[in-house]
Amino acid sequence: MELNSEMVDHALSTTRAVRKRLDFDRDVDDQVILDCIDIAEQAPTGGNQGSRRWIIIRDQATKDAMAELYLKAGGSWVIETAERLEGTDHQSATMMQGAKHLAENISRLPALVIPTIIGRHDNSGRPGLFDSVIQAGWSFQVALRARGLGSVWTTMYMSEAPAVAELLHIPDDVTQIALFPVAYTIGTDFKKARRYPAREISYFDRFGRTLAETRSEPRAVADGPGVMVEVDVKAKPEVLWGLVTDLENHARWSGELQSANWSDGVVESSVGSTFKVNNRRDDMGEWSVTCTVMDWDPNQRFGWCVENPDNHVARWTFTIEAVPGGSRLRYHSRLGPGPSGLTMAIESMGAELEPVIIAGRQDDLRDNMFATITGIKSLAEQD
Ligand SMILES: Cc1cc2nc3c(=O)[nH]c(=O)nc-3n(C[C@H](O)[C@H](O)[C@H](O)COP(=O)(O)O)c2cc1C
Repeated sequence: MELNSEMVDHALSTTRAVRKRLDFDRDVDDQVILDCIDIAEQAPTGGNQGSRRWIIIRDQATKDAMAELYLKAGGSWVIETAERLEGTDHQSATMMQGAKHLAENISRLPALVIPTIIGRHDNSGRPGLFDSVIQAGWSFQVALRARGLGSVWTTMYMSEAPAVAELLHIPDDVTQIALFPVAYTIGTDFKKARRYPAREISYFDRFGRTLAETRSEPRAVADGPGVMVEVDVKAKPEVLWGLVTDLENHARWSGELQSANWSDGVVESSVGSTFKVNNRRDDMGEWSVTCTVMDWDPNQRFGWCVENPDNHVARWTFTIEAVPGGSRLRYHSRLGPGPSGLTMAIESMGAELEPVIIAGRQDDLRDNMFATITGIKSLAEQD
C-alpha cells in the first residue's frame, strides 16, 4: 500500500485534545477501541517486549467512581479555576473551559481507557519504562481520530492512582500512564495547534545552534547559522520586557558589547527606531554598528537587525513567553546574510575553515548571550 503522506501528516497534526466536542450520547463499540489498541500495539517497545496492558472501562458504576476520583484529584480545582478565568484574557482561559467540561462529564463518557505497563519506574532519571508506552498511547489517540473518535491525554487523576488501582484491581507492579476519555467527536474537522516552528527549536550538532536557511553541508554563513539561549525566570513578562528593552542591560554582562544607545531623536521606540552599539574584542579591536528595530511587541518580542535592514549583518531577538510560575526568556541571534567581520575573517583564513569559524563564533555568542539572560534573570528576580 502506498502511504499518503498528506493524510498521515493531517492526522498527526490535527489529533487534538478533544473535550467539548466529545459526543457523550453516541455509543462506541468495544471492537473499535480494540482495533485502535491493535494499532497502538505496533508502536516500538524496549527489548521488543509486550508489557503494555490496557484497561477499558465501560461499566457505569465504575465510570461514576472514576468521575469522583477525577474530581477529587484536581477536577474540582479545574472547575473553580475555569469559572474564575471565564471571560478574562488569561492565556489558559479557553483551555480551562474545556478541562472543566471534561471534569464535569467523566461519568457520561462512553468509555475510559487507561494504558498501563508492567513494571515500576526505577527513578534512575534514565529513560526506561515510560518510553515503551507513551508512543503507544499517542498511536491509540491518532487511530481513534482516524475513525471519527477523539480523546485527550489526561494525567490529573494520578494523585488518586492508588485508589484507581484498588478500584480496577491493578497489581502493585503495574504502572498507570494516563486516562483517555473515548467518544465519537462532534464533527471531525480539527485544526493544527500553534506550536514553535521547527527552526526555532531544532539545534544542529550542538545544543542552541540554529540554522535559519540550511542550504549546505558543511555549514556556511549562507545557512543563516545562529544561537538560541533561554532561561526560565520567576517574574512577569512585563518585568522582563522593561529589562530587555533597557539597552544598558545588553552591555552589562556581555564580554563583547560595550554600550548600546538609542539614536538621537528616538524618544519612544517602535519598529524602525534605531540604536547604536559599540563592540570590542581583544582579537578584533573596537567597532560600531547601527541596529534597526524589526519587532516591537510589548511583553512578547523585541527584535532588531544589524546594519542594512535589506541585507543585514545579523538579526537579534528577545522573546518572552508566560509559563507557569513566571516567564521564559529566549534570546536568539542569527548571522548573515550581509557581509560582516565574520565574512572577512572567512575570506582571509580560507573558505575551508568557514564551518570552524562559524562554530567558534556561535560558541562566543552563546557565552555572551547566556551571561546576558542570566544577568537579566537575576535583576528580574530581585524585584
Ligand atoms: C502529560 C499530559 C497531561 C495532561 N493532563 C491533562 C489533564 O489531566 N486534563 C486535561 O483536561 N487535559 C490534560 N492534558 C491535555 C493538554 O492540556 C493538551 O494537550 C494541551 O492543552 C494542548 O492541546 P492540544 O493537545 O489540542 O494541542 C494533558 C496533556 C499531556 C501531554
